[in-house]
Amino acid sequence: NLSPIEASKRRAAYKAVEDHFDTSYKYIGIGSGSTVVYVVEAIVAKGREVTSKMAFIPTGDQSKQLIIEAGLPLGSIDALPPVEEIPTKMGAEDALDVATGQQDLGLKGKRQSLDVAFDGADEIDEDLNCIKGGGACLFQEKLVATSAKKFICVADYRKLQPRLLTSWQTIPIEIAPLAAPTIKRILITLGSPDPKIRQGGSAKAGPVVTDNGMWIMDAPFRPLLISADIKDGVKGDGEGGVWEVHQLGRRLKRIVGVLEVGLFYGRNGIQVANAGEEGGGQKP
Ligand code: A5P
Repeated sequence: NLSPIEASKRRAAYKAVEDHFDTSYKYIGIGSGSTVVYVVEAIVAKGREVTSKMAFIPTGDQSKQLIIEAGLPLGSIDALPPVEEIPTKMGAEDALDVATGQQDLGLKGKRQSLDVAFDGADEIDEDLNCIKGGGACLFQEKLVATSAKKFICVADYRKLQPRLLTSWQTIPIEIAPLAAPTIKRILITLGSPDPKIRQGGSAKAGPVVTDNGMWIMDAPFRPLLISADIKDGVKGDGEGGVWEVHQLGRRLKRIVGVLEVGLFYGRNGIQVANAGEEGGGQKP
């Protein structure tokens, strides 16, 4: 009796687990949101003899609860075995900044201790760049995603768009509360007309407080270019409010007080299990 959207999330989740969950895996990242609930359901269906040898790493309090209630062994991102050194030509900060594009940089398998991470997304573009953070968990989601050899983004048919900020309106940014006014002013100079601190809604007045004690600033921008859009005369460096995904992500990350930006870069790093409206389509 699922609605078409819920049925689409569930189809995508089962397809993702069928294609990207191996019984030899040890460490599995479990993201946040309503779609990963079906991912956990599909993993539980594999049976306790498979899952009891694994550790499931959450991206926040919601997914921690999900893992515990499903009876899966709970792990923690700060209690994983050590991995090989990051190559010296690249600093740790650069490595984190490339988000999930590790394969391009020859880093795949060298610094990632998780075998795979499954997560949802708010919007995904043609290059498989994602906007995440609709559920306010983006920092831990990026920490887990960048620690995984494979990042599988599970999404229903509404999420895939030609460019980011086509149907989703804003980029979620996790920020230190003290820096909120400064960050807001900087965002306006970068071309975001009306950045807003996310409010908690009915339960409690005031800003949403993340699992890390931070706030979320939702910043609207014009639709973001992908790398292929950059050509003579179009730089994507913010001139005229026009940004390319990576350039905007890097620029936002440089602002003092920004913990993490809800832009996850695609390239080879992200794979999307996407359920088409009519059936179980998948890209790539
Ligand atoms: C949480 O902060 C988000 O990044 C979620 O992963 C994203 O909002 C997807 O959520 P749904 O699966 O509920 O659409």
